[in-house]
Amino acid sequence: MTDLRFDEEAAKGLLAVYVTPDVVAQRAQFLRALEPRAGERVLDVGSGPGFLAAAIAEATGSSGLVCGVDISEPLLSAARKHCAHLPWVEFRLADATQLPFPDQHFDAAISTQVLEYVRDIDVALAEIHRVLRPGGRTVIADTDWDSIVWYSPNRERMNRILAAWEQHAADVRLPRTLANKLAGAGLHVQSQQILPLFNPSYDPNTYSNRIIDLIVRFVTGRNGITHDEAEGWAQELRQAGERGEYFFSLNRYLFVARKDS
Ligand SMILES: C[S@@+](CC[C@H](N)C(=O)[O-])C[C@H]1O[C@@H](n2cnc3c(N)ncnc32)[C@H](O)[C@@H]1O
Repeated sequence: MTDLRFDEEAAKGLLAVYVTPDVVAQRAQFLRALEPRAGERVLDVGSGPGFLAAAIAEATGSSGLVCGVDISEPLLSAARKHCAHLPWVEFRLADATQLPFPDQHFDAAISTQVLEYVRDIDVALAEIHRVLRPGGRTVIADTDWDSIVWYSPNRERMNRILAAWEQHAADVRLPRTLANKLAGAGLHVQSQQILPLFNPSYDPNTYSNRIIDLIVRFVTGRNGITHDEAEGWAQELRQAGERGEYFFSLNRYLFVARKDS
């Protein structure tokens, strides 16, 4: 398996990413697109640390239900802790391609930054379609890694590192084909948005800075990249940043789609 493994250590790194203002702001955008209402039953596919599930649960209230599924035990455990005060939220160990719920069980389903890791995306979309009630909606957000612009004084090394990083997901360019895939699954796209992550100056508490260590860990040993080379890349980025030479941007894309009534 070449993809990023959401094990104990990766989970810790992800938690640090999720509390940055960049990611907090994107979560608010995901929530606005979903528009959860009181009493609704909502599924979060690939619920990760459960931050989004908690925010959805605040909106549905205790008359609603929020179910999160994930394949990572460490992230499920973090999510259960995070939502312990919200008893109408539950988390289950399950794969996006085999949802443990009956047909038409949910009013809405959301999946943010997950489907790009799923090998059989058509099966995952068919599962979302199956568990939605007629007229139910889904919100899907994913990153297109071709959209990355990251300044480095050593462009050749940056390109080598990013080429190895491309192996971290099953489809690092999923957004550009997602509208068609949704339509193929019977989910009618109602809107699409671009959600840029933009760090025009160096700040340790940003998305791009927090993913540096995840990237070092992932690329080491791939495409002939040594640990020293990956660490050298990370160090140079941070040092250049401290000198005022920093620029990062990356696009995510969000889709809202609906099942026929
Ligand atoms: C980048 S995180 C996103 C977490 C969360 N959705 C968010 O936006 O905060 C990706 C998550 O997808 C989960 N994941 C990856 N492949 C999955 C699969 N096949 N089925 C369910 N979850 C999966 C990972 O364990 C991880 O929690």
